[in-house]
Amino acid sequence: MIREVAVECEKTQHKDTPSGGRILLVTKLKGGSGATTTCRELAAAAVAHGLDVALIDLDGQGGLTRWWSRRTRDAEGQRSRPTLLEIPIERLPTAAGGLRRRYGLTVIDSPPSVHAAIRAVAVVSDLALVPSRPTVDDLDAVGPVARLLRGACDQGFILTQVPGGKRSRDGAEALQRLAALAPVFGSTSARLDYSRPAAKGRTGYEFGTMAHHEIAALWRTVAERLGIASLPDDAKPSLEPVVARETRHGAA
Ligand SMILES: Nc1ncnc2c1ncn2[C@@H]1O[C@H](COP(=O)(O)OP(=O)(O)OP(=O)(O)O)[C@@H](O)[C@H]1O
Ligand SMILES: [Mg+2]
Repeated sequence: MIREVAVECEKTQHKDTPSGGRILLVTKLKGGSGATTTCRELAAAAVAHGLDVALIDLDGQGGLTRWWSRRTRDAEGQRSRPTLLEIPIERLPTAAGGLRRRYGLTVIDSPPSVHAAIRAVAVVSDLALVPSRPTVDDLDAVGPVARLLRGACDQGFILTQVPGGKRSRDGAEALQRLAALAPVFGSTSARLDYSRPAAKGRTGYEFGTMAHHEIAALWRTVAERLGIASLPDDAKPSLEPVVARETRHGAA
């Protein structure tokens, strides 16, 4: 199922002068923080903005891979993207140059919570995005991950699964705590729009109203940080043909 990568091996470009595509690592030390969800949502936003996007699933649980398989099963056009690549951690340093040449954005779902593994991937990445829920347990884990990433690549947070959205007191307190460590690039509220569409390989960005706005805002900030030229703020994904066809078959 997984398309094998044909990425030319070569020395990694120096990170201070990246050219070509960007590499985004989504990583965390706390399970369930929203890393896989962030990967697929940002990948969908990037595809909708015209980027050629690759996904690399380094999590042995394979959640991103299963989502991609559901997405691409019998899919055409927009839903056949992004591309899933199978590249083991140890090959990333040599594959990075080829990835940058071939893809506008490569999104990597975190390896397991092993410090050395995360650090090794961060070193070849341009930006590490760390999701955190507004809970004491998640927030206790962000200091260690911020220290782990320091000096390896640029880093920032996304606050995820905030109950009650922008008015949440927990969310506001968590934002303050995160911002003291690194920039916070965005937040997601806790809503089924993020989990339900995943059952069909879709995303909240593509099929939810609030989720679309949250991820569009996150994408703008992340794209800007990565130096990716993006489309205007209200750019919408062009998925109507897929939705319309599935509706006729009663499967929407
Ligand atoms: N904004 C959100 N609102 C509601 N549910 C969410 C949101 N973000 C993520 N979830 C749900 O929370 C759960 C954990 O999310 P996810 O799998 O993305 O986290 P993870 O960090 O990748 O977890 P793991 O440690 O297992 O890899 C999933 O069931 C997902 O659907
Ligand atoms: Mg995951």
